[in-house]
Amino acid sequence: MAKVGIFFGTDTGSTRKIAKQIQKLLGPDIADKPKNINRTTVEDLTAYDCLILGTPTLGEGKLPGLSCDCQEESWEEFMPNFEGLDLSGKTVALYGLGDQVGYADEFVDALGELYDYVANTGATMVGFWPLDGYEFNSSNAVDGDEFVGLVIDKDNQSSLTDQRVAGWVEQISAEMGL
Ligand SMILES: Cc1cc2nc3c(=O)[nH]c(=O)nc-3n(C[C@H](O)[C@H](O)[C@H](O)COP(=O)(O)O)c2cc1C
Repeated sequence: MAKVGIFFGTDTGSTRKIAKQIQKLLGPDIADKPKNINRTTVEDLTAYDCLILGTPTLGEGKLPGLSCDCQEESWEEFMPNFEGLDLSGKTVALYGLGDQVGYADEFVDALGELYDYVANTGATMVGFWPLDGYEFNSSNAVDGDEFVGLVIDKDNQSSLTDQRVAGWVEQISAEMGL
């Protein structure tokens, strides 16, 4: 088994696509094939030393799941598993997809929500990302002068996606000691 596990939630598949891109850049010896969180157990997560978790923001600033009309269960339904979960000793990096034009007041809010859940488990959080190059009014995913993870806006800035993903993978490779 590889050192890094990649888990994602999605509605229309874009967050899965980014997960695959990240795994390809890390390579199969370092990262296993990404898995949808709706087919993941707690044991699947805790099996890894390092985790990469991805989510889109749906509804109005929400994690994906049935209550915001997703086609399948997702992070929303997985979240009860975080109660009492101990990820101390593990290193976790997050990424989020959103739309800074259509949802400027709740841009990638679900990334911020996911961060709060994961940071509570005692995990070491890495993969913070600069705000430069994004324009929005408000986001729960901002901490100080950074996002709490990689932010991808394929709705408005798809031409920047490849370079953002590549830069972030390089960054977390160093931070995770891969
Ligand atoms: C109904 C709907 C609600 C959305 N709400 C938000 C939102 O509140 N904040 C945001 O940043 N993006 C929002 N988005 C944009 C999605 O996060 C974005 O399109 C994302 O790439 C979808 O990822 P997926 O294909 O993995 O589901 C919304 C999109 C839709 C269709």
